[in-house]
Amino acid sequence: MTIFPRMVEAALAEGVVGRAIDRGIIDVRVHDLRDFTTDRHRVVDDAPFGGGPGMVMKPEPFFRAVEHIRAERGQPSVVVLPTPQGRVFSHEVARQMSRLDHVVVLCGRYEGIDDRVRTLLATDEVSIGDYVLSGGELPALVILDAVARLVPGTVGDEQSVEQDSFVRGVLDCPHYTRPAEFCGEAVPAVLLSGHHADIRRWRKREALARTLVRRPDLLAGATLDDEEQEILSELVTQREKEHGDEGD
Ligand code: ADE
Repeated sequence: MTIFPRMVEAALAEGVVGRAIDRGIIDVRVHDLRDFTTDRHRVVDDAPFGGGPGMVMKPEPFFRAVEHIRAERGQPSVVVLPTPQGRVFSHEVARQMSRLDHVVVLCGRYEGIDDRVRTLLATDEVSIGDYVLSGGELPALVILDAVARLVPGTVGDEQSVEQDSFVRGVLDCPHYTRPAEFCGEAVPAVLLSGHHADIRRWRKREALARTLVRRPDLLAGATLDDEEQEILSELVTQREKEHGDEGD
């Protein structure tokens, strides 16, 4: 639900999400909030009680809109309100949402939304990170994209979703394609060697090395196979040697 349906529709037409919609794997309806106003000027905002700058989105259009959806499509599983005050979105939250039948997302604009939309209509408040955006449309698209990827059939290769960084708790390894040398930088020789076991080990090592340096917090919850555990121990020992004289 948005006052900028074209902004959302444009993003839905492309890529993995666009293809999933075309194939009927997911069904996305974009509603214009102004269609749920009752005045001639289709007004969706008003001045804040108590004064102050900016405008506040009126509650009635949101309530009418959700009632319309309920009448047409049945009770939604959740009504999500994207807001910087919500619980922080993550792979785990996306996974939970991907198992739901019917998710409604209410996009706000202006300085805010009348709080009764939050208390009486929304069932879930979600933040996509510690920064403030000028509306809920981009968060809604972020949520939709991340959730859609987890719906079986959306991403062609199920295995590639299983291998995603935040599923396994390990960041991705580097990828290369032709040319084998570019701007003086050569592709790592192992990738051209044709030795599949060596390539697999190299990829695991690169992924773990990156994770150890950039996101060591992920490793606590990571699922590692025996080879990865062995590589990680090597990397940790190596780092301790390199940084041994720097204290903790
Ligand atoms: N609306 C504005 N900023 C937001 C954020 N970071 N997450 C979700 N919704 C928002």
